[in-house]
Amino acid sequence: MERTTTLGRFACLCTLLLVSLQVSQASVNVAVTPEVEVIKGMTVTLPCKVTAPEPNKLFVEWYIEIAATRKRIAFSSGGTSRAEDGTPLTGRATMGDDMSLIISSVRADDERSFFCQASGVVGSSEAKTQLKVFFAPEKPIIKSNDRGILIDTEGDSPAPSEVGQCVSRNGHPQPRIIWYNNSVPLPEVQKDTNEKTFMLPSVQKEPSGLFTVTSTLFMRPTKADKNTVLHCTVEYRMPNGKILQNNSDTLKLNLLYPTEHVTFSVVNTEPIKEGDDVMLKCETDGNPQPEFDFSKDGESLTGAIGGNLTVRKVTRADAGQYNCEALDFDAGPDVKLTQSVDVTVHYLDPVMIEPQQSVQVKTGEAVEMQCKTKSSDDYTLQWKKDSKVLSQAGSLQLESVTLADAGVYHCVGMVPSVPGLTKEANITVVVSGKPEIETPANGEVVKEGDMVSLTCSAMGYPAPQFTWKPSGEQSVTFEGNKIHSRVTLKATAEVLKDGVTCEAANEHGADLQKFQVNLKGQNHPPNNNDVDRGIPVFKTADKQQGGSSGVVIAVVVCVLLLLLLVAALYFLNKKGKLPCGKKDKKEVGSSDVNNDIVVEMKSSEKPNEEAGLLNKPPPEQ
Ligand SMILES: *[C@@H]1O[C@H](CO)[C@@H](O)[C@H](O)[C@H]1NC(C)=O
Ligand SMILES: *[C@@H]1O[C@H](CO)[C@@H](O)[C@H](O)[C@H]1NC(C)=O
Ligand SMILES: *[C@@H]1O[C@H](CO)[C@@H](O)[C@H](O)[C@H]1NC(C)=O
Ligand SMILES: *[C@@H]1O[C@H](CO)[C@@H](O)[C@H](O)[C@H]1NC(C)=O
Repeated sequence: MERTTTLGRFACLCTLLLVSLQVSQASVNVAVTPEVEVIKGMTVTLPCKVTAPEPNKLFVEWYIEIAATRKRIAFSSGGTSRAEDGTPLTGRATMGDDMSLIISSVRADDERSFFCQASGVVGSSEAKTQLKVFFAPEKPIIKSNDRGILIDTEGDSPAPSEVGQCVSRNGHPQPRIIWYNNSVPLPEVQKDTNEKTFMLPSVQKEPSGLFTVTSTLFMRPTKADKNTVLHCTVEYRMPNGKILQNNSDTLKLNLLYPTEHVTFSVVNTEPIKEGDDVMLKCETDGNPQPEFDFSKDGESLTGAIGGNLTVRKVTRADAGQYNCEALDFDAGPDVKLTQSVDVTVHYLDPVMIEPQQSVQVKTGEAVEMQCKTKSSDDYTLQWKKDSKVLSQAGSLQLESVTLADAGVYHCVGMVPSVPGLTKEANITVVVSGKPEIETPANGEVVKEGDMVSLTCSAMGYPAPQFTWKPSGEQSVTFEGNKIHSRVTLKATAEVLKDGVTCEAANEHGADLQKFQVNLKGQNHPPNNNDVDRGIPVFKTADKQQGGSSGVVIAVVVCVLLLLLLVAALYFLNKKGKLPCGKKDKKEVGSSDVNNDIVVEMKSSEKPNEEAGLLNKPPPEQ
């Protein structure tokens, strides 16, 4: 304690010295921040800087004013501070060592003036700090007048009507509501019922101290305002002079006015054909849409949804005039409430072919086919076979038919003005005649004695019988008006020499074709056994080069050099004269290159001799 006092005295002397140097007149001086901003719920510090000749004898207090009476919140004396009980800040306010007031969990009603007062031996002084509390309001909610606003037949609304209400809750300080028509702000007119639009604002202070603002919008709309889309915005202040906004959802002005015109139309964009669904739409220019009555030929039609009538899978019987009546009893006496629309249904009758189903002719004869239909519009008829167009008319003539003319002919009817309106029928033409075999594809084998497959393709009706000479294993497949006979047989010396014959026969006659069977990649048979005795590598070389002896010698020299190299490598390796590690040696011994060479040698006629020359150790694998 003694030491503290000594220290205090020293500090005091210093201060006195400083004060006597700087301040001419010795007094207590209090400095605060005039305005402090905080967001509700946060902690705020209100600084208070006291200068006095004898600070340790200072008495510093923080006050607020309640109903024009001062109330102390906290004080500090001789280095200790205390907060008072029973104030609005009890439990949330403390005093710092630097005399500042610290308020935690700031509330909206903490927005007030705070006084920092200091008393010393030479007098007292105080300063006022203003606390501002901010809190962003909730997104504004827009509520419409659900009933809508009635507009009379003259197009005016007699008295101002409530359009809707905009509410934004819990803001601080009190926010402002602005109404918008699309993105244009509506003039802020309050309670002036003579204006076209005006607002009735109201504010509610919540128990929390926050403000809930409401604005009710009134309007005398005309029918010209029917497309008005409204929204409201809450504008509020935040610390550092920031002004922010939050927008509501939009609200479409709901005006009620009677029908002046009725429109009735076909929704389908393409010409209607049998089988289509037809959509009819009846609409008025009034709001809301009234109910509608639909009828055709004096008969009431059901199944409409509002003004939408769908007639499903129409036939030509559904064509005609459709009527729609708008049941709007508020409409003026001159308004034509019934409208009609004509629906055309296009059709194309099934295509009929004469003769029916199938026709049978002999090769060389002529045939004529007719195709007919009917349509609601101009149509075309087309004869096709295998997607090839043969005729652009209703009739098709074939002079002197061949076996290739046999098959299915299609007649396609189309209505060019109606996309998708098409019908088709078909007829089978059977052409009977002597078989005709296609040019044969010769067979090929690698060597004599191999199996070979040959295919003999023939047209002809009735389906021909196939005879192969020599015979083999046979199978038959049908493809359009062709028949394929496939034989598999052994390519004997006789077959290679004389070929194979295929005969196709039916009641009208027969056709015969000869197939050659050749050895693959060769026009003449191989002639001697020397080839077989040679090393395979030589044999291939011999074949490819056509017996060029120079190349043969070159290859022999190369192989011998390679052998020598391998042997030399091996010996060097065994004596450890190669400058590589044990691992490397092993790699050399088992590398792919060496293995390949060894395999090649083994396949030669003298495997033992070669192995001996290499002195190869037995493989480890
Ligand atoms: C509007 O307020 C809501 C809360 O009510 C908030 O979630 C949203 O972020 C705010 N929008 C803007 C643009 O401040
Ligand atoms: C809102 O603005 C539109 C043009 O954007 C205008 O036609 C309409 O009359 C306005 N509505 C009101 C109520 O002022
Ligand atoms: C009628 O059909 C239109 C589409 O063509 C649709 O937008 C509308 O909602 C329908 N009306 C009713 C009452 O179903
Ligand atoms: C020919 O027409 C008949 C029915 O008329 C049909 O069943 C058949 O599939 C058609 N044939 C071809 C190849 O289009």
